[in-house]
Amino acid sequence: MLLEVRDLHVEFHTRDGVARAVNGVSYGVDAGETLAVLGESGSGKSVTAQAIMGILDIPPGRITGGEVVFQGRDLLKLREDERRRIRGAEMAMIFQDALSSLNPVLTVGDQLGEMFTVHRGMSRKEARARAIELMDRVRIPAARERVRQYPHQFSGGMRQRIMIAMALALEPALIIADEPTTALDVTVQAQVMELLAELQREYHMGLILITHDLGVVADVADRIAVMYAGRIVESAPVHDIYKAPAHPYTRGLLDSIPRLDQKGQELYAIRGLPPNLMNIPPGCAFHPRCPLARDVCRSDEPPLYEVSPTRGSACHFWRECLDE
Ligand SMILES: Nc1ncnc2c1ncn2[C@@H]1O[C@H](COP(=O)(O)OP(=O)(O)OP(=O)(O)O)[C@@H](O)[C@H]1O
Ligand code: SF4
Ligand SMILES: [Mg+2]
Repeated sequence: MLLEVRDLHVEFHTRDGVARAVNGVSYGVDAGETLAVLGESGSGKSVTAQAIMGILDIPPGRITGGEVVFQGRDLLKLREDERRRIRGAEMAMIFQDALSSLNPVLTVGDQLGEMFTVHRGMSRKEARARAIELMDRVRIPAARERVRQYPHQFSGGMRQRIMIAMALALEPALIIADEPTTALDVTVQAQVMELLAELQREYHMGLILITHDLGVVADVADRIAVMYAGRIVESAPVHDIYKAPAHPYTRGLLDSIPRLDQKGQELYAIRGLPPNLMNIPPGCAFHPRCPLARDVCRSDEPPLYEVSPTRGSACHFWRECLDE
């Protein structure tokens, strides 16, 4: 495994109390593999990613347990300067909002070039040439001219391509993309996603793709991890999940995808709201919203049951769910 997160716990200590954002997450990704991480807003997708990258807000955040094993080393045991060296060079992150991630007062050429001057000791001239190469690589037209422009002079889709170029610059082994296309128009979303998937294959990187968009996932992911209230509730190869979910929450998510063949039908939505992380329901955290819930669900927290050697479900009644 390129990256293995084991039993990760993250809390936020705020004036109102302790929010248990990540409660024992385990997932992994191999070189050349794409893991899609799904789940409603607040389920802990980004916080898990931030803990992996070492960019968590500490405080108020606190990692209270677990390991993040990357290329054989537990990153949580490294010093900050060691982590900084890994960030960017060995693992990189792409965010939703390129405009706030890029530096507004530097040209994109200077920002891309900096990756090579700072991390690779190249001359400015060499770095500029590499920046243009990268812009070509992410298919920004007229790269030679546009390398002198500032982030605000690019469209949202082009800016996202620049973010991808920055992430790719040092050829990291792992990229984490946190809703990389959410802020874009639908047609542009598809183009940017396609580009990211293509580059991931070409560079044989591991990719963790955090997204709300189940439509995208079917095309690009190898595996899916579904998060609920800071836990993984189902983890499986993508085809298994689309064939038949083994967790009622996954089923709810799948049923909420708009389908072309069912135009005009009302969209299914999972009833109720995600739990308050300062007061997560006992037993199975999903029980107040689950159509299959019964007494044992309210008292006993389900472990991640082994559905198959490559698949897990944290539902006491996963068999029933599969058969539905
Ligand atoms: N800086 C912070 N301070 C306090 N609490 C935080 C902070 N960041 C995250 N949290 C808590 O962690 C929870 C999970 O946040 P996270 O950003 O991981 O959700 P997410 O699954 O990425 O949601 P979304 O789909 O909206 O991006 C939040 O609901 C919040 O309670
Ligand atoms: S354990 Fe019970 S409440 Fe939780 S998902 Fe399964 S059936 Fe629903
Ligand atoms: Mg998020």
